[in-house]
Amino acid sequence: MSSHSSVHATVTLRVHRFTPRPARERKHSSSPFGKRASSPFGGNSNRVRGKQWVQEYRLLVHPEDTLLDCLLTIKRDIDPTLAFRYSCGHGICGSDAVAVNGTPTLLCSAQVGQWVQRLPDVDYHDDEGFRKTGDVDADDDANALEKDTEQAIAEGDDLGVIEIAALPGFPVKRDLIADIDPMLEQIRKLKPYLIHDGALGTKADGRIDVFEYLQNPEQLAKYELLSNCIACGVCEGACPVYAGGEAFVGPAALINQARFINDSRDTATQERLDALDTADGIQACQSVRACSRECPRGIDVGEEIWQLIAQVKER
Ligand code: SF4
Ligand code: FES
Repeated sequence: MSSHSSVHATVTLRVHRFTPRPARERKHSSSPFGKRASSPFGGNSNRVRGKQWVQEYRLLVHPEDTLLDCLLTIKRDIDPTLAFRYSCGHGICGSDAVAVNGTPTLLCSAQVGQWVQRLPDVDYHDDEGFRKTGDVDADDDANALEKDTEQAIAEGDDLGVIEIAALPGFPVKRDLIADIDPMLEQIRKLKPYLIHDGALGTKADGRIDVFEYLQNPEQLAKYELLSNCIACGVCEGACPVYAGGEAFVGPAALINQARFINDSRDTATQERLDALDTADGIQACQSVRACSRECPRGIDVGEEIWQLIAQVKER
């Protein structure tokens, strides 16, 4: 665990667990009403069945610890059966997106002090050090709870509860591991690579000028931030329209396309805009903009999609 402060406190993690039913026990998973019409972008209508429950873990933490730190402690010292996914631990790989208190975010960047909730029905100030639930005096509005949290952090007290579940909008494989293959397939189908017609700049005498596709800083600035997308799926998990791509290509695939459409070297803009202009494509976006709130790379996803919609309409 990281140790930015010397203050220790306790926190309760409420983790949503899931164990899939073994394949041989699974019956036909298709709907008795027949299959959905397939989307050109793929999607995944196979919901995995299995056992679901919520498990509480109480552990000693520093408020600056990340939720990834906490889960690694649980895995190592308390419960080796807990399943979650991570790789870099530094907000680069995008593999550890989950829902924390219902909000999609990355385990490795979410800190305990930032996400812990003081529940109104819990008395965190019992003089004898016990944690009581049930009837508590009613000075428990949001401000009081926030003040309590700051005080609890300062005093190394019981901080409260954090709820962690798998990323919404995707089938769950096990515990906190969502199956993000539908999203990756949607990105793949829309050609997530630079397409160029191969023409090189020539001089007045017809000879090739440079054997590179040059760009100036202004042209780079148009897509540089978009190229930082790590395909974590946080925006997809926040989108009320997206559900494994069954009704919508999803914000991550749209951001990937915006990255190439805004790149002056890419010569497939019309083809890309045509591919997006379908009922399951950009037309399904309801401009809710929930996708913008938690992007770990600072992309204003909703605004970028809005710009794409304008480009699709204007073409
Ligand atoms: S746009 Fe942001 S939230 Fe969405 S997949 Fe890319 S990095 Fe994740
Ligand atoms: S572990 Fe790689 S982004 Fe969190």
